[in-house]
Amino acid sequence: MAILQVARMGNPILREAAAPVPPERFADPGFQRFCDDLYESMLEHDGLGLAAPQVFCSERVVVIQLDSDDEPMFLVNPVIHPIGEESALGYEGCLSVPDMRGLVARHSAIRVSAADRHGKSILFEAHGWAARVVQHECDHLDGVLYVDRAEPKSLAFLKEYRRYGPPVAIEGEEGEE
Ligand code: NI
Repeated sequence: MAILQVARMGNPILREAAAPVPPERFADPGFQRFCDDLYESMLEHDGLGLAAPQVFCSERVVVIQLDSDDEPMFLVNPVIHPIGEESALGYEGCLSVPDMRGLVARHSAIRVSAADRHGKSILFEAHGWAARVVQHECDHLDGVLYVDRAEPKSLAFLKEYRRYGPPVAIEGEEGEE
């Protein structure tokens, strides 16, 4: 396995729409190796999620692991459908925008359809923090960074965020990615 370099904001690859993974790719050992590398890189960089474009691969693959006791979840060619109208505010960070946090509104609940890393269809609902992380990672596949959606005055460097607290206070959930 290999630890992959993470592209930082300003790198054009983060702004591209990533290509769908074709069905024949799942049987390719190179693709399976890439999934392992993506996950290893996420762990190495202390992320809860990582999208392929962040490691210079413009394909529609993300890995998410909200809890270290969970198995990593690979979403390939994911599609997100909001459930209801409700949205929630929460602070986010991103490995491609190091040492910053910002407040982003996301759908509170979503239905996600995708393939897993082996091409098997998966369908699930995500709520709250999990829904936020899925939306954040899947945005990367469309060339969108959380700072595009963040309330400008909420943006803070991590050190200052920790010292002074969130610049814009929110009720309810809060966390770091
Ligand atoms: Ni990110």
